[in-house]
Amino acid sequence: MCGIIAYKGKKDASKVVLEGLKSLEYRGYDSWGIATVADSDIKVVKKVGKISDSTNISLASGNIGIGHTRWATHGSVTEDNTHPHLDCTGKIAVVHNGIIENYQGLRKQFSSHKFVSETDTEIIAHIIEDYMNQHIPFDCAVAEAVKFLKGRSAFVAVDSDSKKIVAVRKGTPLIVGVGEDEFFIASDITAFFNHTKKVQYLDDNELVVIDNDAEFFKAQGGKIEKRVVEIDWQPETAAKEGYKHYLIKEIMDQKDTLYRAINQDEEKIMSVASDINNAYGTFLVGCGTAGKVCMAGEYLFSKVAKKHVNAYVASEFPNYNHYLTPKSLIIAISQSGETADVLEAIEAAKKKSSKVISLLNVFGSTMMRNSDKYLMVNAGAERAVVSTKATTAQLAVITLLTYATVGKLQEGKLLLMDVAEGVNDMLNPRYEEYIKKLAEMLKDKNDMYIIGRSLNYPIALEAAIKLQETAYIHAEGFAGGELKHGPLALIDKGTPCIALVANDESKDEIISNAMEIKSRGGFIIGIAPENNEVFDYWIKVPDAGNASPIVNIIPVQILAYHIALLRNHDPDKPRNLAKSVTVK
Ligand code: G6P
Repeated sequence: MCGIIAYKGKKDASKVVLEGLKSLEYRGYDSWGIATVADSDIKVVKKVGKISDSTNISLASGNIGIGHTRWATHGSVTEDNTHPHLDCTGKIAVVHNGIIENYQGLRKQFSSHKFVSETDTEIIAHIIEDYMNQHIPFDCAVAEAVKFLKGRSAFVAVDSDSKKIVAVRKGTPLIVGVGEDEFFIASDITAFFNHTKKVQYLDDNELVVIDNDAEFFKAQGGKIEKRVVEIDWQPETAAKEGYKHYLIKEIMDQKDTLYRAINQDEEKIMSVASDINNAYGTFLVGCGTAGKVCMAGEYLFSKVAKKHVNAYVASEFPNYNHYLTPKSLIIAISQSGETADVLEAIEAAKKKSSKVISLLNVFGSTMMRNSDKYLMVNAGAERAVVSTKATTAQLAVITLLTYATVGKLQEGKLLLMDVAEGVNDMLNPRYEEYIKKLAEMLKDKNDMYIIGRSLNYPIALEAAIKLQETAYIHAEGFAGGELKHGPLALIDKGTPCIALVANDESKDEIISNAMEIKSRGGFIIGIAPENNEVFDYWIKVPDAGNASPIVNIIPVQILAYHIALLRNHDPDKPRNLAKSVTVK
């Protein structure tokens, strides 16, 4: 959450920073700001709203600049709360990603300074200023400021007198780009990839001072040497390829991405499978949609491999670390590889010397570097905040692993190849049109319920997330069997309810549950391989056996997209959300 970029070199920093910020917008889009240093002055431009919607941007040129795109944590979405934040003299500017947990106490401690925002970030500029008032040089003052800060964060500070940039990583990502007589610092490589492919990775509790060179230090003191790494992979350039939005493009991408997810290096899959077989306790952890994939994994391991694995929401996982041992195995699932809660779960596991394997979609992410092993799900760049193709790719890889642990990798692969073909056929314009008709029928509804059983219970929960974040409809997923324990009281005449049906042992029961809803006036949308008299609207999906979670979620993705359009929402950037969640 929040994107940071900084530049020092010969180019016009304002242009480099502006361009970089656009590619970081997925990290937050409440507001954005840029500070440029020219002579001994800092000029700041701040705007509320998305940088991609801003026109007539006029920036001061200079060779040093820092920029920020904000996802608000402390303080509402206003210009005052937009980064960069300045000290009292206006000589120091700071951009920040993360949370300073003890900022209230610090504001009291430094109350002689004049605060103009409600943010936690602003305190950093004032602490630096305080130390500089005591004739401590800028870079040392930043190092002193770091000692005050509690919580996960990363920040970049610039001083217009010394013209140095100092960046600190303390739990959220920052990468240094090394060009010809120029340096970049950003939350994500893509922000400067057009300029250089040489990088230096900052690790946690390290800082870098950019002057004519980049010098790295431990936050508690002591210089360190950093290797320059030449990136030999190409971050995917995500283009809309003629589609109106990334979301629908990424939904349609699933025609290819499933094949790519299935086409894994078999040796790597078998090695992870053997880690699972040798572990005393396997734990799947993830957040949001990835958390629902973990739950589906729990069902799949039980059903396919007769194996008990545990799925946890990553933010709750540290509460269970009491029984982790060096023989425990943590499988972290994350599209971005940067989600703070998942990183903390990994840290908790590492403290117990447990093994960590990650399932990732972004190469070079923090999770990739913090794991003992990783598998890429190969969905390609996912730009819409709402996860679609990464989800089905994660489901495919988890399914492969379940088959691999019982020596049936090829059987799993064949099943998934069939499913990928089915998805390829399904994602055609007629299918989308048919779902669009349903979207028109549902666009004014306030509540929707989704029911599933067995492998499709986690998918009911995931379907609810899709409808919430895209259509802003109050949607909830339930296990079919739980209906009579409360949710049935919510059913009224015409209440829409999606029943996720698979052609397996849960089929008859979920159909009965749909009947129970229909008898109380509910409008039943069946997502199923075969039609049934209980359905008021039937959306056909391929008969996918144990891979039914993959095919059943796709129609809901399309439905949520079209309801969002009909309700005039931005399907790519839902309100209040961000793609990379780097705060807890
Ligand atoms: C955010 C995104 C979701 C994603 C979740 C976890 O909420 O909007 O789409 O599922 O974060 O992100 P991760 O990158 O760890 O999969």
